[in-house]
Amino acid sequence: MRILSGIQPSGQLHLGNYFGSMKPNLDFVQPENENFFFIADLHALTTLHDRAVLAAARQDIIRDYLAVGFDPSQAIIYEQSSIPAHTELSWILASVTPMGLLERAVSYKDKVQRGLEATAGLFTYPVLMAADILLYQADVVPVGSDQKQHVEITRDIAVKFNNAYGEIFTVPEPQIRASVAVVPGTDGKKMSKSYGNTIPLFADEDAIRKAIMGIVTDSKGQHDPKDPDTCIVYVLHRLLLSEDNARVLAEEYKNGLSYGEAKKRFLEDYMDFLMPMRERRRTLRDADVRAVLDAGTAKAAAVAGETMRRVRSAVGLN
Ligand code: ADP
Ligand code: TRP
Repeated sequence: MRILSGIQPSGQLHLGNYFGSMKPNLDFVQPENENFFFIADLHALTTLHDRAVLAAARQDIIRDYLAVGFDPSQAIIYEQSSIPAHTELSWILASVTPMGLLERAVSYKDKVQRGLEATAGLFTYPVLMAADILLYQADVVPVGSDQKQHVEITRDIAVKFNNAYGEIFTVPEPQIRASVAVVPGTDGKKMSKSYGNTIPLFADEDAIRKAIMGIVTDSKGQHDPKDPDTCIVYVLHRLLLSEDNARVLAEEYKNGLSYGEAKKRFLEDYMDFLMPMRERRRTLRDADVRAVLDAGTAKAAAVAGETMRRVRSAVGLN
């Protein structure tokens, strides 16, 4: 089975990204499948117009994924912008895509409502995403629930194209990632870089300590019993613990563990949890990252090239 997924490069990764997106993505990489995984840097252009920020985010994201355990021997890893067939196919697909299909896309309306400029790129975003998927004849596309409609649009475009030109594309199935509850940030709102409430994965230890020590708690006294389930420190700490250990810790909260001590323990466990990833990230050389991308790009380009040969011939561009 061929599995394909993409992520947008978007800046310094945090604990919410890890449990909400990276870990579920990692879990999808199974040796019995053929896994395609790419950096959707062309999609990032629709919302990110700062050259330096995009350049840095592109560099970091591959390194970060390799550091958290993405195994390049089990996945074909590449950047969307390295393979021109994505944009070429996107145009060909746009030529059979009904406007109405794109006008119904919720994500476009959301983004415009949030204040993003209504550009043609933002509007045709789902067509590029269809090209990303159909180019590789993916069977299954694991996504968060916010992206399900985009995979459904991809299916509609594939069927429309196949009806017009013959059975060229595999019609993919979306597979919705098991949803972890939203990871709260240090202020209790959803952890998000746009709220400045993140606990980073790969910042220096002082920045991590500062973030954890700054987690908002209520005003209970040092030895008062605490309610673990409403305490952000506990809710975050629990993500790192086995069920048994989480239960033991919850008891300690109820028995009056101080917030200071609770944060100290969370910090210790967090650094232990991150240590192998941070170590791997430190020892990854630029050349290692480059080699992964070069190998991935060559493999992906071969598959994409074969699809484009068939597509061009089907539409009369051979
Ligand atoms: P941010 O909100 O920091 O800008 P992104 O929007 O770039 O993060 O998110 C990238 C991925 O990480 C998405 O798949 C999103 O679902 C996941 N994610 C981000 N923040 C959280 C969170 N607080 N809890 C769970 N998942 C999250
Ligand atoms: N739109 C996806 C997101 O923001 C990223 C993406 C682009 C993608 N192309 C894709 C995901 C193809 C899966 C398949 O999360």
